[in-house]
Amino acid sequence: METVFTYVATCLFGLEKPLGAEIDALGLRRLFTMDGRVAFSGTAADCARANINIRCAERVYILVGSFPAPTFDALYEGTKALEWESFIGRDDAFPVKGHSIKSALTSIPDCQRIIKKAAADRLGGRYGLLRMPETGVKYQIEFFIFKNEAHLMLDTSGVALHKRGYRPAANAAPLRETLAAALVMNARLRDDVLLWDPFCGSGTIAIEGVMLMTNRAPGLFRSFAGEKFAALPQKLWDDARDEAEAAVRDTDFRARGSDIDPDAITTARANARRAGVSKYIDFFTADATKIQKPDCRGTLICNPPYGERMLSMRDAEILYRAMGTTFRAMEPWQVYVLTSCEYFEKLYGRRADAVRKLYNGMIPCYLYQFFRKQSKDRV
Ligand SMILES: C[S@@+](CC[C@H](N)C(=O)[O-])C[C@H]1O[C@@H](n2cnc3c(N)ncnc32)[C@H](O)[C@@H]1O
Repeated sequence: METVFTYVATCLFGLEKPLGAEIDALGLRRLFTMDGRVAFSGTAADCARANINIRCAERVYILVGSFPAPTFDALYEGTKALEWESFIGRDDAFPVKGHSIKSALTSIPDCQRIIKKAAADRLGGRYGLLRMPETGVKYQIEFFIFKNEAHLMLDTSGVALHKRGYRPAANAAPLRETLAAALVMNARLRDDVLLWDPFCGSGTIAIEGVMLMTNRAPGLFRSFAGEKFAALPQKLWDDARDEAEAAVRDTDFRARGSDIDPDAITTARANARRAGVSKYIDFFTADATKIQKPDCRGTLICNPPYGERMLSMRDAEILYRAMGTTFRAMEPWQVYVLTSCEYFEKLYGRRADAVRKLYNGMIPCYLYQFFRKQSKDRV
């Protein structure tokens, strides 16, 4: 019978729900959800499919084992009891990193040292070696200790999954590709509805929107650490890539990206070219507070400057007021604005139909969603 692994996909806080939906859409069985992670079960082939296709995940790990670890002794014994030799060969390297939350073991360097020693003792015993050479394939061990329960995993992604490969160059405050993907998934885009990001910067939202609508897998053009794992044969990755490539579709969907900074537009165009989606996106220079609604249906999705990294708070407030005037005149277009400003609705002049808390990296943000026809409820 085919081996079934337990996988853990990690994500930015707030993206657990869209990540879970993506796991479901791949036909995989969800096991549990925690802050920033969703566990699921699947075959070795499913690891390749998850890495290549999931838009919201940061990494996909194999869960090697979980056990109570209230003390360093328990951490050592629990780690040593796991079957590391099922994955890691006699020459392979196995660096350790991780973190601990709400647990008795708080020293990360000590946890790292103990896990490393326990795994090395286990593998050395199995392979009859006093010292593991660690000259072969890299198996990154990641530990996560939460409420005194240790979860030990192997990273199958390597470079984080938000790095699709199309954005070597980004502007000053780029949006994580995984978060941009979640924004476009949330907006329920349609082929006959124009997507416009009027603060496009390096173009991430428009590019992720087209990738979604053309069914382009985000991992189609990059490699993964797991491709070198003995337990995950290369053929599985090649098959998953072929499957993803065959699923790409052409569409009438179109997007616009505009920005006040001409250099950002140059960067965005280059990124779209690398992503293979140029023909779907019109990038141009424009002041977002002066745009006008074209004669079609549309959706605006943007993350304007926050008044932290790019603008002073006062300038951001002036901008948000001007956005209110311009964007509200574009109704019935739907509008989605991601910003860290807690009182954005007041400046914008309309109460959002829904607000969702998300994290852009470490910055807590709010996604203000305006999708109902405007009533007179100014705030
Ligand atoms: C937070 S960044 C957007 C990042 C973008 N989502 C990305 O992934 O690269 C904000 C962008 O707004 C642009 N900007 C600032 N004021 C603007 C305005 N009045 N009209 C249009 N763009 C503006 C900046 O040039 C910057 O590129």
